[in-house]
Amino acid sequence: MSENKEKSAWSAKNPYMSKITECYVLNGEGSRKETRHVVFDLGDSGLDYKVGDALGVLSENPEETVNLLIETAGWDESQIVSTRSGEVTLREALKKDFEIHRVNKKFVNSLSEKVTSSGMRITVKLIESYREPVAGSGPNWMGGDAPLQSELLPSIPGDDPVGRVDTLASDPKAMEDYIWSRDYIDVLRDFDVNYSAEEFLELADKLKPRLYSIASSHDAHPGFVELTVGIVRYSHHGRDRGGLCTVYLADEVEVNETDVGVFMSPTKSFVLPADTSTDIIMVGPGTGIAPFRAFMEQRIYDGGSGKNWLFFGDQSEKTEFYYKESIESWLDEGHLYEFTTAWSRDQAEKIYVQHRLKEHGARIWEWFERGAYFYICGDKTYMAKDVHRALIDIAKEHGGMSDEDATYFIEKTMMKEEKRYLRDVY
Ligand SMILES: Cc1cc2nc3c(=O)[nH]c(=O)nc-3n(C[C@H](O)[C@H](O)[C@H](O)COP(=O)(O)OP(=O)(O)OC[C@H]3O[C@@H](n4cnc5c(N)ncnc54)[C@H](O)[C@@H]3O)c2cc1C
Ligand SMILES: NC(=O)c1ccc[n+]([C@@H]2O[C@H](COP(=O)([O-])OP(=O)(O)OC[C@H]3O[C@@H](n4cnc5c(N)ncnc54)[C@H](OP(=O)(O)O)[C@@H]3O)[C@@H](O)[C@H]2O)c1
Repeated sequence: MSENKEKSAWSAKNPYMSKITECYVLNGEGSRKETRHVVFDLGDSGLDYKVGDALGVLSENPEETVNLLIETAGWDESQIVSTRSGEVTLREALKKDFEIHRVNKKFVNSLSEKVTSSGMRITVKLIESYREPVAGSGPNWMGGDAPLQSELLPSIPGDDPVGRVDTLASDPKAMEDYIWSRDYIDVLRDFDVNYSAEEFLELADKLKPRLYSIASSHDAHPGFVELTVGIVRYSHHGRDRGGLCTVYLADEVEVNETDVGVFMSPTKSFVLPADTSTDIIMVGPGTGIAPFRAFMEQRIYDGGSGKNWLFFGDQSEKTEFYYKESIESWLDEGHLYEFTTAWSRDQAEKIYVQHRLKEHGARIWEWFERGAYFYICGDKTYMAKDVHRALIDIAKEHGGMSDEDATYFIEKTMMKEEKRYLRDVY
């Protein structure tokens, strides 16, 4: 097999084990956020990438969550179980192969079996304490002349375990609210239920890789791949918790020590214009700046004449001005034609990137008319939708279009036909 063919075999199932060489916080002191610049060494992997691609990262569960789960469930950590990694100890399986940091719906739904059967166990115990078991009949509450269940069990109040499980199973909103802040340890404690390790592994989700937009150009950083990662941290029910991969990168991985599995996730669509004289507008608030750092590095490396306009924003200029030095030097050297910021919390009213886009609407429209590409990266749920709406408003106001025509221009002409409105949102 040729070397190249072998090298392209790295994948989610067969990741390259890379070392992280840098993992520093980009925020200034006093920030509410923790966003890190993370650099992976591609070593002799032969892995290559282009700007716009994403990196897949495989992570592990926190040691303390694994320990507490084993302790709460009363399992034997050295028990051998069968997983996608083969025959491994239960401890290893819980560390590397399953998502144990958030409970899934399948597990909560399985409680109905457990809670009913533990109700049965309570009944049996009550009966046994009522009367001596009949020889040969076993602890069967229906056997002999045992009292009826209704005589033994208190009536079921609305919040008893059976009622709660029924509510969770039948009310999707209650289910979402319940699982949002809980992991398996919370649920085992809440319902006082027992699961064997095999039952648990059958229900838990397999650990999935996370994708990150690449924040570097390979031409500018040969042999390395760099990311901008927003660390997800929160606290619920008296315990600090967080996102699986981001907390792993921030807290558990040791720089130049730990092996971290990675693979490339190439994009076909989120690419720079082939013609380097084409102008581009990039909108990347928060971690959305990642691919645009890469785009800038590549455009500088390629040396084309196309202009670059970057919209960036986050909470505060003092604490979230990521890559400030690079941005200022791109501006000084004329590589960045224009840089527009939206610091949302530096004044009483919120200022977001879409407000800045609309303020500059006339010039954005001119750029569109001259064939500029428009890129957006970052939050999918709110920001990307609001920016999309702002583009339609700009087409109406500055292109003199009706709402219908403006929507057609943005969504069909620019996005689908000309493929110059491109998104990397998550
Ligand atoms: C193509 C692509 C590119 C991406 N690029 C980047 C990037 O450049 N930088 C970046 O940082 N991310 C990026 N992401 C997101 C990234 O893949 C992960 O989703 C993110 O880092 C969270 O992963 P995690 O494992 O740490 O969190 P997970 O364990 O997956 O948990 C995240 C979930 O936690 C939940 N959550 C959040 N806050 C709370 C709370 N207070 N209470 C309870 N639950 C909460 C939310 O449901 C959230 O979905 C990208 C995603 C995609 C698909
Ligand atoms: N899947 C995950 O778990 C995960 C992990 C990390 C990030 N993310 C997502 O990725 C996004 C990026 O996170 P981030 O920390 O880099 O940045 P972010 O939370 O998107 O914040 C960046 C800037 O966008 C602003 N903003 C908030 N709502 C907006 C809107 N509707 N339109 C435009 N701007 C808006 C923020 O302002 P204010 O904060 O002042 O409102 C802030 O100034 C997050 O929104 C999050 O949903 C997801």
